[in-house]
Amino acid sequence: MIDLAPTQQGRDVVLYNLQACEVMGISPPEAQWLHTDFWTQRAHGKPDSGRGEAVIINEPAPMVLRTYCRGGLVRHFSQRRFMYNGLDATRPFRELQLLHTMHKAGLPVPLGLAGRVSRFGLAYEAAILMQQIPRCQEVHQRIQRNAMPNTLWQGMGEVIRRMHDIQVYHHDLNIHNILIDDEDALWLIDFDKCGQKSGHQWKPGNLERLQRSLLKEQAKSASTYYFNDDNWQALLNGYQQPIASSPNSR
Ligand SMILES: Nc1ncnc2c1ncn2[C@@H]1O[C@H](COP(=O)(O)OP(=O)(O)O)[C@@H](O)[C@H]1O
Ligand SMILES: [Mg+2]
Repeated sequence: MIDLAPTQQGRDVVLYNLQACEVMGISPPEAQWLHTDFWTQRAHGKPDSGRGEAVIINEPAPMVLRTYCRGGLVRHFSQRRFMYNGLDATRPFRELQLLHTMHKAGLPVPLGLAGRVSRFGLAYEAAILMQQIPRCQEVHQRIQRNAMPNTLWQGMGEVIRRMHDIQVYHHDLNIHNILIDDEDALWLIDFDKCGQKSGHQWKPGNLERLQRSLLKEQAKSASTYYFNDDNWQALLNGYQQPIASSPNSR
């Protein structure tokens, strides 16, 4: 566990991963950076894909702010609220800890910079601020346009295997939550509700979810969606034959 230096700022408790801020070369985030309104009012960032809760920020540093919500197409206020059971059980506390653990293990994940927990009686709302992966797109977007060589599908399998080897379960491993940058490095994102779990029986479920998401997007796609059985086999090969250090370890 890393010390997240919780600091009370009015109604908010702000969590800081100061080590990650240092790695990114930025000073500790200001409390207002943890509020979507701050960025949308200044038009510094634009609300992006996903559930519309992630804001891509470029200045003063490349970051992403994600407000936690309950999933689905959420518009309701109350769906941003969670029962408060202590700071260390909150979404941002857990996700920042997990990102830290994965980063330490050399997994390609964004640095978790800060979190916000705002109390409303027994409930709370929350957000997480993280490093923006530079010059990247979702693998989903990439394969809408171009075929990806099987070496990359294999690399995807390897990265997932490395995540599983440190017992990290991904709650929503879909093709939007794997990013690829302009050097073809793969990145895993979106670790809300994820965590370290013992055993192995849950691991195939993560892969099945990813395959379902690829097939679903393929079925939805009006034009060619560059995904086939051969690609999936390459991914499984990568998963089954992990290598000690892959080009993705940074
Ligand atoms: N660290 C990041 N760097 C670059 N882009 C990101 C990053 N995190 C999220 N995104 C983009 O924003 C989208 C939504 O973010 P995500 O964390 O998956 O939240 P959700 O799926 O809950 O909306 C992602 O699919 C990706 O396109
Ligand atoms: Mg997502």
